[in-house]
Amino acid sequence: MSIAEAWDVPSPAHPPLVPPSPPRASLTMTAFGRMAAMRRSMIDTWGPRAYEEDIIRGRFLGRSSFILNTPDTIRHILVDNYENYTRTPAGIRVLRPVLGEGLLISEGRAWKYQRRTLAPAFTPRAVMTLVPHMIAATDQTIAKLRAISAGPVDLREAMQRMTLEIAGRTMFSFGMDRHGAALRGFVMEYGARLARPHFLDLLLPLGWPSPQDFSRARFRKRWTSFVAMLMAERRAAGKNEGAPPRDLFDLMGAARDPETNEAFTDAQLGDQVATMILAGHETTGTALFWALYLLALDPATQDKLAAEAQGAADVLDLERLKFTRAVVDETMRLYPPAFLIARAAAGADTIAGMPVKKHDVMLIAPWLLHRHEKLWRDSNAFVPSRFMPGAPPPDRFAYLPFGVGPRICIGAHFALVEATLALARIIAAFRVEMLDKEPVMPIGVVTTQPDRSPMFRITPR
Ligand code: HEM
Repeated sequence: MSIAEAWDVPSPAHPPLVPPSPPRASLTMTAFGRMAAMRRSMIDTWGPRAYEEDIIRGRFLGRSSFILNTPDTIRHILVDNYENYTRTPAGIRVLRPVLGEGLLISEGRAWKYQRRTLAPAFTPRAVMTLVPHMIAATDQTIAKLRAISAGPVDLREAMQRMTLEIAGRTMFSFGMDRHGAALRGFVMEYGARLARPHFLDLLLPLGWPSPQDFSRARFRKRWTSFVAMLMAERRAAGKNEGAPPRDLFDLMGAARDPETNEAFTDAQLGDQVATMILAGHETTGTALFWALYLLALDPATQDKLAAEAQGAADVLDLERLKFTRAVVDETMRLYPPAFLIARAAAGADTIAGMPVKKHDVMLIAPWLLHRHEKLWRDSNAFVPSRFMPGAPPPDRFAYLPFGVGPRICIGAHFALVEATLALARIIAAFRVEMLDKEPVMPIGVVTTQPDRSPMFRITPR
């Protein structure tokens, strides 16, 4: 019996929405066709087999690659033998200029030290101290949206700005009025050009610079001085002697390695600041965009969420926002912001009886897993009730919006609190509809983005 058969999805009151999804890649795609598609959207390179089979072995640029869709193989790579599987050279090449030696792309001992040092800054208790910043930034966005609600509204842009504002305030306690545009400029500039892997980025060994790497190095110079300027401004705003931490900067600055009692150096702290702002805002902004898109296409679900959000007198009481949270969970099933988790083998291994060589590439794609026909019933339908309390929980390795194992997203709780509170407050304030009737397609470049910014109509409730 498959997991989908064992798992009886609670039937929704109305036929579920099935949002449009991108066509599956042709089985006869050439290596060049794949490379071009990869630059445009990784999701477009996956054919029907990727959504049906357990393991797909292929060869790409002289290396074996494995798409893994079974709990056992995923557990092996991300949990049991995780130390043998590192970030891929292409991933490091693309991310290092913006994230430096921060947590997301560090490995081995350096990663362990950073992870255990940072962990206390992301506990549920620490996140609760950041909630007032999240609420203030959300309410500021709602006020701005109210002022422009007479015309068409670009909610993708609004969500990216809001999550950037939340990232800035939770990090530094100050609003992003003065620096938000510059910060957004950096993110857009990098995403539009330098984050897209070029042919030579994939082909050359990591020690050899690709032509794009020269532009990336120039970008890094400007970016690190911008982050240093933000940190200097935060320090000038006053020390926090003796008082409880009020933002992530305080929490990360006070962090000490539990074994050695060492603090981060300034350069290390700068890389963590960059990592948290970038890893946190684009992903959560994308999740919120897709949630609003799905709710606009599914008015009955939106009404149900609005009733819950308006009924929850104090939205600080997250416990009450169960349906809102289920909508967030189901949105991230259909549109996981991190559509792909890639690893390269550091040494030889065996997976499902097949030999793995050093440098082979392992692909664990939340995008595929979350729509896999063996793992989900009605896999393409939007059914938030799957995630309501009482429904059978999904298999631990079938639903991975935040990854799994020692390298699971450190900001998962932060992101879930932020997305649930923001969605509840926005839907309590506005009815959301699509003005733009054309299908919106997801494209996978770093995160699962919409292929364009559709226009919405928002009506104050
Ligand atoms: C909806 C929002 C988010 C999603 C979908 C998401 C997704 C992920 C995923 C899938 C990973 C694991 C990658 C892997 O195993 O290769 C990850 C790691 C990470 N995330 Fe998130 N993330 C989100 C929000 C955040 C936030 C808000 C922060 C920080 C404030 C954050 C910081 C990080 C960091 C630092 C790592 C690296 C952890 C490590 O390697 O030890 N993320 N995220």
